[in-house]
Order: sequence, then C-alpha cells, then structure tokens
Amino acid sequence: MNKTDNSVLIIGGGLAGLFCALKLAPKAVTVITAAPIGRGASSAWAQAGIAAAVGPGDTIEKHVADTIAAGDGIVDEAVARMMASQASDRIHDLLDYGVPFDRDLEGRLQVSREAAHSESRIVRVRGDMAGRAIMQALVETVKKTPSIRVLGGYVVERLLVEDGRVVGLQALGNGEGEENILTLRGSQVVIAAGGIGHLYEVTTNPAEARGGGVGMAARAGARMADLEFVQFHPTAINVGKDPAPLATEALRGHGATLLNKDGERFMLPIHPDAELAPRDVVARGIFAEVQAGRGAFLDCTRAVGETFAEEFPTVYGYCREAGIDPVTQPIPVIPAAHYFMGGIWTDLDGRTSLPGLWACGEVTSTGAHGANRLASNSLLEAVVFSARIADALGGEDLWDAPADWSEGSMESGRQKPRPDSDQMKLLRHTMSSDLGVLRNKAGMREALRTILRLEREADTERFLNVLAAAKLIAVCALNRTESRGGHFRTDFPAEDEAWRRRTFTTLDQAEKTIPALLEE
Ligand code: SIN
Repeated sequence: MNKTDNSVLIIGGGLAGLFCALKLAPKAVTVITAAPIGRGASSAWAQAGIAAAVGPGDTIEKHVADTIAAGDGIVDEAVARMMASQASDRIHDLLDYGVPFDRDLEGRLQVSREAAHSESRIVRVRGDMAGRAIMQALVETVKKTPSIRVLGGYVVERLLVEDGRVVGLQALGNGEGEENILTLRGSQVVIAAGGIGHLYEVTTNPAEARGGGVGMAARAGARMADLEFVQFHPTAINVGKDPAPLATEALRGHGATLLNKDGERFMLPIHPDAELAPRDVVARGIFAEVQAGRGAFLDCTRAVGETFAEEFPTVYGYCREAGIDPVTQPIPVIPAAHYFMGGIWTDLDGRTSLPGLWACGEVTSTGAHGANRLASNSLLEAVVFSARIADALGGEDLWDAPADWSEGSMESGRQKPRPDSDQMKLLRHTMSSDLGVLRNKAGMREALRTILRLEREADTERFLNVLAAAKLIAVCALNRTESRGGHFRTDFPAEDEAWRRRTFTTLDQAEKTIPALLEE
C-alpha cells in the first residue's frame, strides 16, 4: 500500500510519540505503532514517576546538579538545564491531559524521594502507578483528538531517504505479500521508537524494545551518540520471567535493604550510601552476589511491611503472582537491562543530523543522561523533547488535519512480538554475557564476531536493524577504554580523564573501526 500525504509521521505510540502528536494538534499527524497505542511501550511500565523541581526547597539548579552528578562527568549541562527548567510546564500539560498526579491535602503536587536526588522531586501517581496512569490519560486524549490518525499493527522497518532527506517510511503489517507493506510519505518524520532492553536476556523492557528504531536510524545514516552506555536496574524481580518485573528503587528509598542468602547486607562494605549508592554500583554489587551463588534479596519486611499493597500496588501484584509475600518475605532480585543512554543524536529541539528526521524519548541520546541516567529523568526527557519538536515544527509549513482525519485510523491487528528466533536468543545471550554489567576486551570482541556472523546470515530488515543496534553498542564499548557510569570494564576498571567526553559516530564510521578492534 502506498500513501502520500502531508501529515507528520510519528513512529511509536509510547509517551514521547503520543505527547508529540498531542502537542502538534491541530496539525495532521499519523502515528504508526506495532502494538495498540500505549501498549508495548516502556513508558507504561514506569513505576516511579517524573522528576521535577516543584517541591518546597527544591530548585532547578539542584535538579541540574543531581543530573550532572549521576551522569558521571559527561552530561551536557545546557541540555540538563533546559530539561529541568521545562519540567514544571510539562507536568502541567500532563495534568491538563488528565493525569491524576498525587496531591497533598492543600492540593499541591506531592513529591517523593529517590536515590541520587538531593530533594524530594518525583511526581507520582498512587505510589508506583505513574507510567500506567500517564499512558492511560494520553491514550484517552489522543482518541478524542481529531488531528491524530493511528495506524496500528505496523512495524516500521526502513526510513525512506531521498537526496539526503528523510521523506517517509516503510512498514510491515500482519498480512501477506505486497498488501502487507505500507509505504508512507509525509512532511516530516519523528522517531519515538523506544529503547534496546530486549537485546539482553534479562530486561525490564517490553519485547518491542529491541533496538529496531536505533538500528533503523543508524542504517539511514543518522549521527548516533554514547552507544556504549546501557543502564542496568539493580532490582528486577528474579523469578525467571521475561521481561523481568521491576521492584522500584523507591523501595530502597523507603529503607528496604539488600541481603544475600546468608543474611549479609553486602552493600555496606561496597559504598558509604550502601543500598542508595548510584544505580550502577548497586547493580554490580548484586551481580557479584548472584554470580557467586549467594543470591540477592530485597528485604522490605521492616521498611515497608504491612502497607506494601497500598504503597506499591504494582510490585505487590508482581510478587504475589510469583508466590512471594513481600510483607513477610525478601524478594529475590537481579540486575536487568533497563534504559539506554545512547541512541540517535539530537540537538536541543530534537532535530537529528538527517534533514526531515526528528527524534524523542529513549531512542535518542540528547546528552541529558551522560553515562548514567538519574532515576525518573527519562519520562521527563520524553515529554520535554517531544514538546520542543512540536514547537520547532511550528515553524514549518504543516498541514491542518481535515475533519475526518482520525477516522482513517486503523489497526491491522496487533503485531505481537513473535517468540524469539534461535538467532535472537543467541544475540540476547551474547549481549548479556559479554556486553552486560561487566565487560572486558576478550568478551566484547567475541560478542562483536557473533553479531557480525548473525548479520551475514540475516535475511530480514527487522533483524538487520536489531543487529545494527547491537553492533554499535559492541563497537563503542570496545572503543571506550575506561569505566564510567553504566559502562564497566574489568580490564579498565578506573575512569580516565581523557575519556571524560561523549562519543559520536555514524554506522559507517563505527564499521570502519571494526578491523582494528578485532585485530589480534
Ligand atoms: C524505578 O522505579 O526504580 C525506576 C525509575 C527509573 O528508572 O527512572
């Protein structure tokens, strides 16, 4: 099916994509998603909330300072400041869209505290329900917005580039043959296709988040950034589920402790802040216990106890499903791939290096997170940058939606992620073993060789996109000969001042470094 229209094409129906679509109203927008909007998106699974300096005693400067400290030396300060200063306005937009953020008795927004934040600044919904509540409100608003047409059931596989400009996309639906291919040309393309967690065996992300958007943009020639930095959440619930359910960091903020099976609080000798140390430090502490066979358990029995179901309904539900009563029993935990700090490079307005292509949300690397994202800054980044894209596009000659535009919405059936192929299983195993919490040269070289072999054998655009994302992570991780934030090398365990900088590359440039990286 070939279509040409003047609408803005948005790839992805998570928070960034939908927020951008709403901000563009009444300009005509087409949102293309694999799953029905709001589903298959990591945003809906976020438990904590949105960081915003709106509480008493908090300031934008404190939020900026915490973001910079968490990012381990390579946050772009101008980006962090812009993001923190727009947080309050975006929270008010979300309130206008109907998000029921928690309020105190005087009606002020209630804020809570998380690790590495110097103030209480997480705006939440009913304890740990923020992601779900935000997405519900946005989906309802999108459905009532006539300028937004949704094409569901399509996986975008290719960006159409003509004379260096992105002019449209190609997507695959559920049907058979030619009818199955959707070719869309629009006025501008916004990619909000999410992260890469499913490249790893243990992840908190939905199966849709397998790096397809990152790889697709890289294959189209976009400039990419900081691709070596993957954040592992320390406390995914270790009950053999894929994806692994998350036990929010707020539990440790509440005083929950980490124990091994001998009852030792193993974080105490590792870091003065123990369980509230930076996320990468806690992830490595837990990883070491799990690797050594001692296991790791989050003990909430004293710190949360009887109020668990009320205060953390989502985590409580996950535990009960797995036969664990967190009121009386410690929760088994394991680090899981959670967030990608790398991605498509954008400027302060979400503009990529390719004319006609914009990007927002986890698929990007804006410089806001550096080597290690501060908790609850990701939903913030998604709304701030998608709103800025809409503003910047206001200067373009966009098309007002005709009255019946949203009636063109359609679902060609949900594209449920298929079960992993043997190749995908091998890729996930390789990424976890050799490009995971701990990395070293020999392992990463082995991983890169496996990725290159899978690439030679691959016969679908979809898998080639996934492999391009994996290859970029491997190459950039091999190139960075130090440890920083989420990137920890056992062969280079210290930070190196010379590497105190972000990294930028195109796929082409990264590929040129491969022969030297693999040389014996
Ligand atoms: C959490 O609730 O621990 C996750 C918050 C985040 O990753 O921002």
